Amino acid sequence: MNARIARLVVLISGHGSNLQAILDACDAGTLPARVVAVISNRAEAFGLERARRAGVEAIYFPKPKEEDRQKYDQRLAARVAIYQPDWVILAGWMRILSNEFLRRFPMRVINLHPALPGCFPGTNAIERAYAAFRERKITRTGVMVHLVPDEGVDCGPVLGQVEVPLFEGESLENLEARVHEVEHMLLVQTLRNILLDPEFIKGVKKDA
Ligand code: GAR
Repeated sequence: MNARIARLVVLISGHGSNLQAILDACDAGTLPARVVAVISNRAEAFGLERARRAGVEAIYFPKPKEEDRQKYDQRLAARVAIYQPDWVILAGWMRILSNEFLRRFPMRVINLHPALPGCFPGTNAIERAYAAFRERKITRTGVMVHLVPDEGVDCGPVLGQVEVPLFEGESLENLEARVHEVEHMLLVQTLRNILLDPEFIKGVKKDA
């Protein structure tokens, strides 16, 4: 087992339940990693509070209206780089990162998306999957974790995915709860795969 403790910077925009899953796994020793900073583009994101409670630096990093996206992403990358992360984790980060950011961390940015590869990119993926099931367009949904090589939305080499079955008569709230539960498990498991086995990520890149 690789005993090195990886440095993670986690970018969030909201509730931070997936951040919490990472923090808990680090704390429990199931993930050989440390969250060195949590950055949110939204002041009210509860994930910032989760970070503070865990003793992790919590940074509110808003994009001023007048600033263009590239400039903001450049500043964001510079801020993230201060923490010298091995991995940058997008755990509910609801902004598309431009190449200004991504080129600073090539193949080191990981995104979580609450749908299967190629499905429902963008926001409200669970809600859209729920609606598509009711319209008999899909029979299953899922969760994926992938590398972010470029500006594509919720796409890139897949690191892990799990299917989530859809059930007749289920409420949206119930489906959301089931998907989130799978996310918390898959995100931690995928990070474990990457951190404990250096060959894992090489294989993914080759196949991409
Ligand atoms: C998660 O469901 C995550 O997959 C989703 O935002 C939620 C954040 O929840 N991300 C996307 O939709 C990206 N397209 P959390 O703040 O409780 O971790």
